[in-house]
Amino acid sequence: MRLPSGTLVLLLLALTACDDGAGRAETVTLAVRYPGIRAALTLDPERLLDYTQAFRPINFTEEQLRLQDNMPASRNPTTNAGATLGRVLFYDKALSINGRASCASCHLLSVGLADTNRFSTGFDGRLNTRATAMRLLNLRFYGDGHAFWDRRAVSLEELVTEPIRDSIELGFVAAVGGVDSLLKRMRALPYYPELFTIAFGDDQVTEVRLKKALAQYLRSIVSNSSRFDFALTVSGGTLVDRLAPLSQLTPQENRGKLLFATSNSVGGANCEVCHRFPQFALDGGSKSNGLDAGETRVFKAPSLKSVALSRHFMHDGRFRTLEEVVEFYNSGIQPGPALDPRLTDGAPDRPQRLHLSSEDKAAVVAFLRTLTDALSDNDPRFGDPFRR
Ligand code: HEC
Ligand code: HEC
Repeated sequence: MRLPSGTLVLLLLALTACDDGAGRAETVTLAVRYPGIRAALTLDPERLLDYTQAFRPINFTEEQLRLQDNMPASRNPTTNAGATLGRVLFYDKALSINGRASCASCHLLSVGLADTNRFSTGFDGRLNTRATAMRLLNLRFYGDGHAFWDRRAVSLEELVTEPIRDSIELGFVAAVGGVDSLLKRMRALPYYPELFTIAFGDDQVTEVRLKKALAQYLRSIVSNSSRFDFALTVSGGTLVDRLAPLSQLTPQENRGKLLFATSNSVGGANCEVCHRFPQFALDGGSKSNGLDAGETRVFKAPSLKSVALSRHFMHDGRFRTLEEVVEFYNSGIQPGPALDPRLTDGAPDRPQRLHLSSEDKAAVVAFLRTLTDALSDNDPRFGDPFRR
């Protein structure tokens, strides 16, 4: 008999009663598919969870999706099997050289997939990252496609092996064989050839496939269940009038929303030109926000969804509260070559001064808090799939 690969044959001895009452052994063959997956992971390989429904946040128009989407539809469309493999990789400590850390060590689901520390501790438990870990929500909707604070990765596919090869993060540096030595390790773990077969049709564990699967998983993490999203849905779904109040938000939150979306030239806080409704990913054309005078680097911000769950803000985690962040935009922006013109009073050397009242600053913070998403450890698509 020919069985599909990844199938373990279990021979069960069943005793069947015979007419004469004496026991007679009969062999029953039971095929258990994907024994490697079933032994190591809690997921059901024959009933994969749905990662494609998450793609389109409620409230998103076709046009917004088209303009802001960075999924290379023909080269790496997300599938349930690909994203499932990506999820396993994300939580697998085998992805660190010493088997102690995974992507999830620094990207915690409970805080929007960021870290609670200003700088994250690497695989060896001693060294820290030089930047603050970024929340990983709505990564799909940064139309520009670059990733990391300084936008040095050209795409999510290209990014995902960086933490693996990093000397602080996961430690598969060139001297120990780089990603190839990880691939070798993965081939020997029974669940990977099975997962690669489900996702890509055969059991070849390759770097290109690893990149595709992790990118698919990351793009499937779409935030659409914050109070803001529900308020928007109740009010009709799409933001036809971006300035209109939403009936489910408090007057203070609606004031904050109005300021967030209104131009600084008419007394608003002008945030939405860069942090775009309704997914709050950064506008692809945004330049820097003037944290340091003379800055030449152009920075990216992660989506502001669940920003209130973070404890450190900006690439170096310099601010501890959202109040400090809003005060920075109100009075602290510094001039420099990379400063976005939308954060100036017209001339490059004149950063904006918003002169917001303390009530208005508090209102902007209150609005930012409505973006907190319940997407949490309870969502079976995104939790740790390992039996530990
Ligand atoms: C030791 C902590 C640590 C580990 C482990 C780690 N990361 Fe990160 N991650 C960070 C930090 C810090 C940043 C910001 C780095 C920077 O911009 O220089 C980041 C940024 C990112 C970003 C960029 C997000 C954006 O909006 O541009 C992605 C995507 C990401 N990580 C995915 C992963 C994946 C996938 C893994 C596992 C293969 C992983 N990370 C492992 C700390 C970590
Ligand atoms: C010109 C575009 C632009 C505008 C306008 C803008 N921001 Fe930002 N914002 C950025 C960039 C770029 C970053 C990342 C900066 C960095 O860390 O280097 C950022 C970072 C942030 C962060 C920190 C995110 C994190 O995960 O640490 C918050 C919060 C934030 N902005 C809120 C606001 C608010 C509130 C306003 C309006 C008062 C606003 N922004 C206006 C571009 C902009």
